Amino acid sequence: MPEISAPSMLRRTKIVATVGPATDDQEVLTQMIRAGADVVRLNASHGTVADRLRRLEMVRAAARDADRSVGVLLDLGGPKIRIEGFSDGPVTLIEGAAFRLDTRLDPKAGTVQAVGCAYTELPRDVTAGDTLLLNDGQIVLDVERVGATTIDTRVRVGGELSDRKGLNRQGGGISAPALSARDFEDIKFAATHGIDYVAVSFARSAADIIQARTLVAEAGGVARIVAKIERHEAIDNLGEIIDVSDVVMVARGDLGVEMGYAELTGLQKTIIQESRTRNRVVITATQMMESMIQNPVPTRAEVSDVANAVMDGTDAVMLSAETAAGRYPVKAVQAMAQVIEGAEKYQLTHPRWRQRAVEGQLFKGTEEAIAMAVTYIANHMNLRAVVALTESGETPLWMSRMRSDIPVYAFTKHEATRRRVTLYRGVYPVIFDVGAAGNSIAQLYRALFTRLLELRLVELNDLVILTKGESYGVQGGTNSMQILKVALD
Ligand code: G6P
Repeated sequence: MPEISAPSMLRRTKIVATVGPATDDQEVLTQMIRAGADVVRLNASHGTVADRLRRLEMVRAAARDADRSVGVLLDLGGPKIRIEGFSDGPVTLIEGAAFRLDTRLDPKAGTVQAVGCAYTELPRDVTAGDTLLLNDGQIVLDVERVGATTIDTRVRVGGELSDRKGLNRQGGGISAPALSARDFEDIKFAATHGIDYVAVSFARSAADIIQARTLVAEAGGVARIVAKIERHEAIDNLGEIIDVSDVVMVARGDLGVEMGYAELTGLQKTIIQESRTRNRVVITATQMMESMIQNPVPTRAEVSDVANAVMDGTDAVMLSAETAAGRYPVKAVQAMAQVIEGAEKYQLTHPRWRQRAVEGQLFKGTEEAIAMAVTYIANHMNLRAVVALTESGETPLWMSRMRSDIPVYAFTKHEATRRRVTLYRGVYPVIFDVGAAGNSIAQLYRALFTRLLELRLVELNDLVILTKGESYGVQGGTNSMQILKVALD
C-alpha cells in the first residue's frame, strides 16, 4: 500500500527523474524512488516502444517495492529537426568554412562539407541571412544561399559535430507540426498503459495541445497534457497554450537555443508565474544538475539554479541525463532533494511570499474560493494538515496553487489520482475510500483521523482542515471546509 515516506513529508517541491540506461537496474531504480523521485519520465526521443514498456514495468515494480505512489510522464519525441549521419564518424567544423545541409544526401554520407537532413521542408523554412544552430547551439551557421533541397551556410562558430544532432533556427519559424506519426504511436502506448502525463514537445499553439488531448481521449487514455515551452512561437502564444494545458514545462534546452540563453531566467519566472495564476502545474527542466552526470556532487551554480526554481514557485524540478545516463542517478536525486529542502526552509521563514496576490480578481468558482480560504486559515492558525477528499485531484490542485506551510493530503480511493497528485507542490496522496467510511459524519471523521494517525501525519488533539462536498464520491462538488480537532472518541 503506497504510503507517505518521511522525505516527501518535509519536501514540498517535487522531483521528476528521467529513466534510461543508468536506471535499467531494478535495485538502482528502487533506490532512486526511495531517495525522492516523485514522478518518473520516459523519454520517447530515444529507444523503442518496447524499451518504454520494459522501463514502465520496472518503474511500477520499484514503486511497489518502495511503497510509494509514483507518477509517470511520457515525453513525446516531437518534430525535433536533426541532421543525419557522417560516413567516417564525427567531423570538426572550422570557423569560416562552407557547410551544406542537403535534404537529398544519403543519411550516412555526411562529411566536413555537407550533411543530410530528413526534414525535407527545411529549405522552405529558412532564408539567406538566417542563423542555424546545431547541437543545442554549440555550432552556429550563417545561411548564405538556399536551393530547392540544399542550404549553403558559413560556419560562424565551429566545433565537433556527430550523427543526429539537433538543428534549430534562431528565432523559431520551423513549420513541422508538433505531433509526428511516431508520437501517435506513443500516445496510444500511453493510453493503453495508464500513463499519467503526456508531454507535447515543440508545441507552437493551443491547437497542438488540443490535438494531443483529443488523441489521448480517442485512445481511451487518462493522461493529463504537459505543454513543453521550447519554441519561440510558444512564447508568443504562452497564455493560450497554458489555458488549454494541464501542466507546463519550462524546457530550457531548446528554449535557450531559440530565444538566446540570456533570456532564459526571465522567461522561467514568467512561465512559472503565469502557470500558477492560471491554476496549472509547472515543471522546470534541463541541465539542473548537469555536472552530476560525471560527478557525485553538484556545482554551486547548479545548487543555486535548483533553489531559485523552488523560490520561483515551480511545482517540480526535473533531472534528465543526470539520472537517465549519468554515473550517479541516486545521488542526483538525493542532492536535488536536499537543495529543495534548503530552499524551502528559507522560503518558509519569509512569510510575505506566503500568499498569491489575488486582489481585484474574482475567484473562478467554489473550489478556488474554498482553496483560498483554506490557505488563508492555514497560514494564520497553528494547523497540522489539510485533508482534501478528492476524486480527480482537482481540489488539492487548487490548494497547491497558493503557498502555505501546511501539507495537503489528497485522500482518494483512485490509484490514478494518487499518481497524478505526486507532481503537485505540497500535495501528498493517501489511500482512502470515502464510500467505505460509514454513513454518519462521526464515522467519516473517525475513519479520517484513524488514517492520519496510523500514517503518523498528525497526533491526537492536532487541528486539521477538511474539505469536501455535500455528497460523497462526487467529482467537482467541494463546497465546504471545516476545522477539526483530531480525536478518536
Ligand atoms: C470526494 C468527496 C466529495 C468531493 C469530491 C471532490 O468524492 O467525498 O464530497 O466533492 O471528493 O473531488 P474533486 O475531484 O473535485 O477534487
